[in-house]
Amino acid sequence: MITIIGSGKVGGDAALFSALKKLDDQILLLDVAKGLPQGEAIDINHMLSEQGIDVEVKGSNDFADMKGSNIVVVVAGSGRKPGMTRMDLLKINASVVKSVVENIKKYADNSIIIPVTNPLDPMAFVTYKTSGFERSRVFGMGGMLDLSRFKQFIHEATGYSRNSISALVIGEHGENMLPLPRFSSISGIPLPSLLPKEKLDELVLNTKQVAAKVIELKGATVHAPGNAISSIVESVVRDRKQVIPIATYLDGEYGHSDVTIGVPAVIGKSGVEKIIELELNDEERKIFEKGIESVKGAISGIKI
Ligand code: 2OP
Repeated sequence: MITIIGSGKVGGDAALFSALKKLDDQILLLDVAKGLPQGEAIDINHMLSEQGIDVEVKGSNDFADMKGSNIVVVVAGSGRKPGMTRMDLLKINASVVKSVVENIKKYADNSIIIPVTNPLDPMAFVTYKTSGFERSRVFGMGGMLDLSRFKQFIHEATGYSRNSISALVIGEHGENMLPLPRFSSISGIPLPSLLPKEKLDELVLNTKQVAAKVIELKGATVHAPGNAISSIVESVVRDRKQVIPIATYLDGEYGHSDVTIGVPAVIGKSGVEKIIELELNDEERKIFEKGIESVKGAISGIKI
């Protein structure tokens, strides 16, 4: 069973995409708000029924219902509002995430946890520390979402098929996000050989800022995060061993320890199966380090 805790728009979309991809026979939407997960589940089941897909989606307010889950996605907490940075949510969401993870420990202590709540990197840290799980079983979704945006900007700039684009974004899922043109390509052709530096700088900036723009326009980002969650879950469930940037706890990798940040990793049935260390150049390294500093500053203020 896949459990998604938090059944607002992103949680609902994550359930919807996971069901369409048939990632499990059973998907549970959990939320403390009475009626919300139940309503969402009924609505999704109607769609699945018409499509002839035998995945059962259930809504519940009872954490005990997640018993037996092998994957638990945590979307619970407040979302980013217009004008807010992801970090503005730190205090509010740390306590929500902590209490949710206590429940995961109680009812699904063999599961893989995928935190999504913002600010993502600090919340992945809180999840890892509170759970006590080995680090391979706790990794946050941020970079996958960021790279989907980078891909779209590359597509718009080149006009080439989205299917030919491979893009990578690591670092903080926040102000110090690090889109990596050098590690992005069109069918293996490195991006810097196809676009001039000024254009690449523009794509990088747009990738960093576009979530705020979507929030300004429609109040929240929904489909891209919902999809990114289901893609990561798919790599676990189908043991695809996809290389995906996820927020993982570092233990010496990239020269850092006791901090959680986005780096590329091999994602398979046991979670993070390998962390891939990239040779960053000075410019990239500087931004990565700023991200580390920002996340360390945030987690130093949270009681775990
Ligand atoms: C996003 O990037 C707000 O972190 C959320 O869509």
